Amino acid sequence: MIRQDQQEARSLSLVRSLWRTLIAPNSRFSLGFLLLAGLFAGVVATVGFEWTMHATNTDAFCVSCHELSENALVEFVGTSHHTNKGGVVAGCPDCHVPKEFVPKMARKLRAVGEVYHHILGTIDTPEKYDEHRMWMATRTWDYMTQRDSQECRNCHEEASWDLSQQSEKAREYHAEALENGKTCISCHKGLAHKLPKGIRKDDPIKGVDF
Ligand code: HEC
Ligand code: HEC
Ligand code: HEC
Ligand code: HEC
Repeated sequence: MIRQDQQEARSLSLVRSLWRTLIAPNSRFSLGFLLLAGLFAGVVATVGFEWTMHATNTDAFCVSCHELSENALVEFVGTSHHTNKGGVVAGCPDCHVPKEFVPKMARKLRAVGEVYHHILGTIDTPEKYDEHRMWMATRTWDYMTQRDSQECRNCHEEASWDLSQQSEKAREYHAEALENGKTCISCHKGLAHKLPKGIRKDDPIKGVDF
C-alpha cells in the first residue's frame, strides 16, 4: 500500500515536472528537443489515425460483422460488382463510405450505432436480418440520395458516358436522367444485395421524384 502511494507520488511529480518543462522549456530540455519530440508525437498520432482509418475501410473489417448473418457478403458474391470480365470490382467501402474527409468521418461516427446493434444482436441471424432489411435499405437509399450517389459516381462518371454504346433501355433512361438530374440510386436499387420484400428495382424512393 505504502509502496503504491510512493509510486503514485513519484509519477505525479514526474508529470508535474514534465508539464513545467513543456510550458517553460529549461536547460534540461532544449526547445529544439521539445520541438522534435512534438513532431515525433504528431507523426505517431497521424500514422495511428491513418492506420485506424485504413483498417476500418476494408472489406475484411465490414465482413467481420456482416458475414455473421450470412447476408450482406453472401448476396454480394457473384454480382457484377464482385466478379466480372475485367476484374474491376467494388468493395463494401467503395459503395458505402465516402472518400472525402468530412463525410467519411461523419459516416464513421454513424457506425457507432452499428457497434451498438452488433452487441444487441439486431441482425445476427438471417431471419432477423430479413426483418431488419427494409429499415437498413431505406436508410442506405436515403443516405445515397442525399449524397447524389457520389460513391457510384466515383467510378461511373456521367460526363464520360457514351450513351450510344449503352443498351437501348439504358440509353433511354439515362438520357432522361441526365436531363432531369436524377440520381443513380433512384433507379439502381438491389444491384449488390437482395431487395427487401415487396420492393421492385424501379420503385420510387421517398423524397425522390421518379
Ligand atoms: C461492429 C460490427 C459491424 C461492423 C464492423 C460493420 N457493421 Fe455495418 N452494421 C452492423 C449492424 C449491427 C447493423 C444494423 C444497424 C442498425 O440497426 O442500426 C449494420 C448496418 C449496416 C448498414 C445499413 C444501415 C446503415 O446505417 O446504413 C450498412 C450499409 C452497413 N452496415 C455497412 C457496413 C460497412 C460498409 C462496413 C465496413 C466499413 C460495416 N458496415 C461494418 C454491424 C457492423
Ligand atoms: C469501385 C468502382 C465502382 C463503384 C463504387 C460502383 N461501380 Fe458500378 N460498376 C463498376 C464496374 C467496373 C462495372 C462493370 C462490371 C462489368 O464488367 O460487368 C459496373 C457495373 C455497373 C452496372 C451494370 C451492371 C449491373 O449490375 O447492372 C450498374 C447498373 C452499376 N454498375 C451501377 C452502380 C451504382 C448505382 C453504384 C453505386 C451504388 C455503383 N455502380 C458503384 C464499378 C463500380
Ligand atoms: C431514370 C433511371 C436511371 C437513372 C437515374 C440511372 N440509370 Fe443506369 N440504367 C437504367 C436502366 C433502365 C438501365 C438498363 C438496365 C437493363 O438493361 O436492364 C441502366 C443501365 C445502366 C448501366 C449498364 C449500361 C448498359 O449498357 O446496360 C450502368 C453502368 C448504369 N446504368 C449506371 C448508372 C449510374 C452510375 C447512374 C448515376 C450516375 C445511373 N445509371 C442512373 C436506369 C437509370
Ligand atoms: C455496388 C455497390 C455496393 C457494394 C459493393 C456493396 N453494397 Fe451494400 N448496399 C448497396 C446498396 C445500393 C444498398 C441499398 C439496398 C439495395 O438497393 O439493395 C446496400 C445495402 C446494404 C445493407 C443494408 C441491407 C440491405 O440488404 O439492404 C448492408 C448491411 C450492406 N449494404 C452491407 C454491405 C457489405 C458488408 C458489403 C461488402 C461485402 C456491401 N454492402 C457492398 C450497394 C453496395
